[in-house]
Amino acid sequence: MSKGVAIVTGGTRGIGLEITRGLMEEGYQVAAVYHGNDDAAKACEQQTNARAFKFDVAKFSDCQEGCAKIEAEMGPVSLLVNNAGITKDGVLHKMTEDQWHAVVETNLTSCFSMSRAVINGMRERGFGRIVNISSINGQKGQFGQTNYSAAKAGILGFTKALALESAAKGITVNAICPGYIATDMTSAMKQDVLDSIVRQIPVARMGTPKEIADIVIFLASDKAGFINGATITANGGQYLI
Ligand code: CAA
Repeated sequence: MSKGVAIVTGGTRGIGLEITRGLMEEGYQVAAVYHGNDDAAKACEQQTNARAFKFDVAKFSDCQEGCAKIEAEMGPVSLLVNNAGITKDGVLHKMTEDQWHAVVETNLTSCFSMSRAVINGMRERGFGRIVNISSINGQKGQFGQTNYSAAKAGILGFTKALALESAAKGITVNAICPGYIATDMTSAMKQDVLDSIVRQIPVARMGTPKEIADIVIFLASDKAGFINGATITANGGQYLI
């Protein structure tokens, strides 16, 4: 039986692809939103049977139009996973305005724009689940990531405030803070920088996308109905160091 329609932003690659795959296996109909890579989107559709929708989550109007199209073609959205994220790393004293805005708008403003597009339907139906993907670097800060750390920390405040506003309408809003996960994003880092970070992780390895997708599936399930406004961390113990 279908569990309803789920939107996963950045849902065709990396952690998002694994979330898309996991939710499809759980019986959701998944709309995987992407912006750039058409080949990856086609491969995602073929591998998972999800549908890919192309629009820019950094733009408010794209989110309104994109979500309206998804709901018209697939039905009401019961689960939104705000996963889309980019990095444009650099120390603040060299960071450009573009590096700042691109990361804040794609990673944080998108959570507002996407939630704004689906929340009234969830409120009317008295049920909804929103899961926001933050980061360990939003919790602890990271050298070279003032833009990313600010956006990911912002997601935690956004999550708690929206959870308070939505609880009485049967909607839960939670955040996950992954640590360093083996994806295109971390493999784009300089190898020596990445190696030095992995050496600090107590479990002595990076996480897998599936280890994050499994948390999304749990938070979306009936078993997690009493978890609201929470921050779930999954970082192999790195935050303790
Ligand atoms: N703490 C203190 N000093 C540091 C440091 C750190 N963590 N990292 C670098 N430095 C120092 C270096 O030793 C160097 O000092 P000297 O000039 O005295 O030798 C100086 O800072 C410059 O370092 P780099 O040579 O690395 O400078 P760069 O301009 O080539 O690169 C950078 C800067 C791009 C920010 C690079 O340091 C970097 O990639 N850092 C890691 C950023 C990171 O963790 N990104 C995560 C991406 S994945 C992700 O974000 C997913 C997620 O949610 C976890």
